[in-house]
Amino acid sequence: MSFEMNKIAGAILAAMIVAFVSGIIASNLVNPTPLKKNAYEVAAAPEATSANQQAPAGLQPIEPLLASASVQSGESHTSVCKACHTFNKGEPNKIGPNLYGIVGAPIAEDRNGFAFSDALKAKGKGQKWTVDNLNDWIDDPQHFASGTKMTFAGDPKAKDRADIIAYLNSLSDHPQPLPTAVPESAKPAAAASASGGQSNASPSPPSIDKLLASANVDTGKAHTAVCQACHTFNKGGPNKIGPNLYGVVGSAIAEGRNGFAFSDALKAKGKGQTWTFENLDEWLTNPQHFASGTKMTFAGDAKAQDRADIIAYLNSLSDHPQPLPKAQPSSK
Ligand code: HEC
Ligand code: HEC
Repeated sequence: MSFEMNKIAGAILAAMIVAFVSGIIASNLVNPTPLKKNAYEVAAAPEATSANQQAPAGLQPIEPLLASASVQSGESHTSVCKACHTFNKGEPNKIGPNLYGIVGAPIAEDRNGFAFSDALKAKGKGQKWTVDNLNDWIDDPQHFASGTKMTFAGDPKAKDRADIIAYLNSLSDHPQPLPTAVPESAKPAAAASASGGQSNASPSPPSIDKLLASANVDTGKAHTAVCQACHTFNKGGPNKIGPNLYGVVGSAIAEGRNGFAFSDALKAKGKGQTWTFENLDEWLTNPQHFASGTKMTFAGDAKAQDRADIIAYLNSLSDHPQPLPKAQPSSK
């Protein structure tokens, strides 16, 4: 009898061990390589103009756009957010917190006990969701709070963001007064405070040329560890999730690469263009900004020096590396 019991207990234990071990194996299969940043395919606004996208550097002040923002189109722009958020009063948290009354509320606090990331808590300490903070956040969450668990690529269109913020503001017991038209004279000051504010790491980002002049190929190589989940770099290396990148600097955007199936988004954006240092810099800052809808689901690297190092490394992987810019005489 007790021998039978032992056999049953043993069988249960064995089943549990199998389940446990296969759980570990399964989760390793699902996440083969930890990316430095989360990269999900929840893309930004699909209708972003691929033509003259703004450089990712400083955001234009949002206030003038808020003055003419539309709550209704803001609501429709939040359909992408609804994968993760609820908006009405009293609705539950999902992957992200409920957003009722978010404008003016403290950053990463309460929300009915939502488990915020340390990244957003640290970044938001003592701060509120002002209009400017929301503007930066929705533009590029990883840039606002590097390491945040909001895996949303961002919405690069300032007008969309203004509409979304106006909509968020309407979801409140006490909506805040939105700015009315901003006098011309106030604009330069607003621009200065936007770029000098807490949310942007560097007030006026140094040009990539300047950083390239002192870039380090070895450091660049080390920074491409995150890329290797999807790319090979050596001559003749195979395409994986992304194309082989040997000789990419100076080559045509989204062409060749041994028949790699590029997205229509990158093909359209890159038509007739090459991977110049500037294009690579913009691409690596935020692929979705550069080519909204690209299938490169990499959140981007917000550090300009990292990008310069990576580009110097990419440039070294070529039969004919291009000359990197030389240090410039003192002026900026
Ligand atoms: C893929 C899921 C996902 C999508 C899509 C998404 N979010 Fe989030 N959001 C999150 C998560 C997760 C957090 C918590 C972030 C943290 O703790 O780092 C968050 C946090 C936020 C916060 C901060 C809340 C607080 O209390 O501090 C705001 C504001 C926000 N999201 C707005 C938006 C808006 C607006 C959109 C659409 C334009 C959007 N989110 C799209 C998952 C998402
Ligand atoms: C999650 C997978 C993934 C990661 C991580 C990733 N990439 Fe990509 N990459 C892709 C895909 C997919 C494409 C094709 C994009 C398209 O067609 O829209 C691509 C395209 C590119 C291209 C354009 C190639 C061409 O011939 O036009 C460059 C350059 C590039 N990646 C560089 C990088 C670098 C550098 C890193 C790391 C800092 C990186 N990628 C990280 C998947 C990834």
